[in-house]
Amino acid sequence: MIFHVLTLFPEMIDETVSHSVIGRAINSELINVNSINIRDYANNKHNQVDDYPYGGGPGMVMQPGPIYDAYQSLLNGKEKKRVVFLTPQGKTFNQKMAKELAKEEELVLLCGHYEGIDERVIEEIVTDEVSIGDYVLTGGELGAVVMIDAIARLVPGVLGSDDSSVDESFSNNLLEYPQYTRPKEFLGKSVPDILTSGHHANINKWRREQSLIRTLKKRPDLLDKADLSEEDQRFIKNSSKGL
Ligand code: ADE
Repeated sequence: MIFHVLTLFPEMIDETVSHSVIGRAINSELINVNSINIRDYANNKHNQVDDYPYGGGPGMVMQPGPIYDAYQSLLNGKEKKRVVFLTPQGKTFNQKMAKELAKEEELVLLCGHYEGIDERVIEEIVTDEVSIGDYVLTGGELGAVVMIDAIARLVPGVLGSDDSSVDESFSNNLLEYPQYTRPKEFLGKSVPDILTSGHHANINKWRREQSLIRTLKKRPDLLDKADLSEEDQRFIKNSSKGL
């Protein structure tokens, strides 16, 4: 999968994605992150890409021309691509959206700065507007790397085979069960006996129940959307009594 990022700060993207799981996925060519500096498409000798807003008001607005030309450079005559504009006005990013976007072969992420982007280029090239949460950042770059991280880890092969994304929080609208590793005793607390019992059916049952209890306590809103068996529902009903 290829992520093209249109940005005034390509180092913010390149540096962030160069580490850990995503860095390895890039090195092994499972994904490609192609940062394009919008300033390279400035059409004046001062390399200026912003200007005062028509109608007045604070701050500067990114001009449409350099963004449009940077986008056109990706097309080289071929068909249009899906272009996500990172903006607090967009639809809030979530795991479902990450899964859907992971099916794309290519994605263009457009990062704004200053007071915004000239509306005409947004109308012309943007297919999706996405926010990473209800707060205002200084630019779209941090949002873009959040999206790249969440989407890229769903691309087959990016997580190791025993590091699967099937069982994790949100993938089935349940939070993940608690995990333990060595030492068996820590600050007087023992690992739950069941996990050292070697009885896999009981361990799976215990983990399922822990997921249900956690979701009930921390994110009860998720339970409405979760796929629950009759046994799960009975367990939740009994557990809710104690809460
Ligand atoms: N740019 C500024 N704020 C943002 C947000 N919350 N999400 C995505 N992009 C942004």
